[in-house]
Amino acid sequence: MTRLTSPTQTEKPMLTSYTRFQQEFATGLASAIEAAYSESIDDASLYSDTHVAALIERPRKAQFGDLAFPLFPYVKLVKEAPPVVFEKIFAKLYLPDDLGEVTFAGGYLNLTLNTTRLAKALAAEILPAPDQFGSSSFGAGKRMLVEFSSPNIAKPFGIGHLRTTVIGASLNRIFAFLGYETVSINYLGDWGTQFGKMIVAYQKWDGEKELAENAIKGALSLYVRFHEEEKNDPTLSEAARLAFKKLEDGDPEMTELWEMFKTVSWKEFERVYNVLGIKFDLITGESFFNDKMDEAISRLEKAGLTSESRGAEVVDLGEFNLPPCLLRKQDGATLYATRDIAGLMYRWDTYRFCESLYIVGSAQADHFKQVFKVLELLEDAEGAAPDERMTGKVKHIPFGWVKFEDQALKTRAGHVIYLDDVLQKAISLAESKIRDKNAELADLSNVAKQIGVGAIVFSQLSVRRQKDVNFTWEGALNYEGETGPYLQYTHARLSSLLRRYHSQSDEQSVPNYNELDYTVINDTNTHQLMATIARFPATVENAAKEYEPFLISSYLLELTALFNSFYQRRDENGKIVKILSDNKALTDSLMSIVIMTRATIATGLHLLGLEAPEEM
Ligand code: ARG
Repeated sequence: MTRLTSPTQTEKPMLTSYTRFQQEFATGLASAIEAAYSESIDDASLYSDTHVAALIERPRKAQFGDLAFPLFPYVKLVKEAPPVVFEKIFAKLYLPDDLGEVTFAGGYLNLTLNTTRLAKALAAEILPAPDQFGSSSFGAGKRMLVEFSSPNIAKPFGIGHLRTTVIGASLNRIFAFLGYETVSINYLGDWGTQFGKMIVAYQKWDGEKELAENAIKGALSLYVRFHEEEKNDPTLSEAARLAFKKLEDGDPEMTELWEMFKTVSWKEFERVYNVLGIKFDLITGESFFNDKMDEAISRLEKAGLTSESRGAEVVDLGEFNLPPCLLRKQDGATLYATRDIAGLMYRWDTYRFCESLYIVGSAQADHFKQVFKVLELLEDAEGAAPDERMTGKVKHIPFGWVKFEDQALKTRAGHVIYLDDVLQKAISLAESKIRDKNAELADLSNVAKQIGVGAIVFSQLSVRRQKDVNFTWEGALNYEGETGPYLQYTHARLSSLLRRYHSQSDEQSVPNYNELDYTVINDTNTHQLMATIARFPATVENAAKEYEPFLISSYLLELTALFNSFYQRRDENGKIVKILSDNKALTDSLMSIVIMTRATIATGLHLLGLEAPEEM
């Protein structure tokens, strides 16, 4: 078996501005605590840089500043009142000149960073390569497997598979952006007893004609008819069982039909993936593991893990409060779990991943618990060395349901909402919206596609993964609400500003960050805008750690709201401050903020799987 070599390290030694400020703050604090309290605190590790750095939080409210250091742990140790502890530490606190202002509130020592210094550091970090901002080598040398989407052959690609597709694609992008070597996997449901039914229905009810017009819808109606007629005609079930048995035994006619189902289904699926802009590194369905299951089962047998239960071969998991994991039915047929077990063994042998993720709805939580437990027991029994174990590295990433408002779509297609229909409807709604607002727009149909798709994708990522999504058309497409199109619209407005800036100052595309003067921008809103931009790299990292694209979507909404207030900024006389003016120094400084915001929004949208149109 080939084992891929580890990817080469792409070293990008970079401390983000935010991390650097945090470190300066921590170093200063650590020395101050030592100076104030080394007599009364014996354990010196309590005032080490790393210990202090780990305690620093983000304040609960923006008015408390940008970084907060909790005094409670020290208050408890030295048995003095919080204000006293604050005063004593503060008296010994030396921070680099222009780091910021320290205040005391609610038991915390807070730091509000100096806006000018923050803005300068960010400009130096972002302007030289705006689209790299937030990327890192955090995951360098690590391989991450992300399995997602995995629809079932000969069944509709319905909205039931929308969320896994969107969440998985986003996580895959996030990990890649952080330097991981990602392997995106589509584990098609291309095996199982349903193929026996499909084959019987196809042969009996002129499937060729049925599938000619629309393969998937035709296949579905065959499938539905089979289930209806099966109720009154038990010979159908027996015929289906036989057909599947023949397929398993490699019968050429059955195999050809099965191949045909796969081809027509994949064509349909691919159309959806193209619309969504998703590609897979690996498309290996369940059937890929057919010839690998005997070996998998015999490994489990050798390890003494299998037993018999009512004629079936199982791994008993009663001890772990789980139902027995079924490996082989009485008639010898293998099951969904058997294929996943063989699949994991294969993935581990082939990829030696740092993590392998399964983006699958929470309804399958028990299934994954069983599969992972069986592999853990196997590794225990075989005495695998710690770094030769996949236990702890395999993770089920569950998510909630999608509740769809659109009944029309539902009834027309026979209780299935086709993803393709949803996407096409979103695109045409976006198109008519643009025609109302900006009929002259060049490339209108392409932009409509970006916005329609963006609306659907964002609707899936704008709530936490484990929560249900209540999808409504108005909620998804509203340009003013908390939607994908709203973020895209903001990006387009920033792009238009940038175009105007370029046309008026032709010689350079990006202001020189060494020459920018931020002393003119010291209002609270601008400060918060800067501080929020600074948090982007940490936000991406947290989204990866928590497998939660929602952290990025909510971040983008916050960033956009702050930018919109920045855009409406008024001077002392209450007049809106124009970003582009005759004052070159001011224009350059303000535009640098526009460029930083725009790049952050574009990258964020990209990580979620949305396009960032220049105009709309
Ligand atoms: N095809 C399955 C379904 O549609 C999802 C597959 C999930 N992945 C896995 N390795 N079991 O429900």
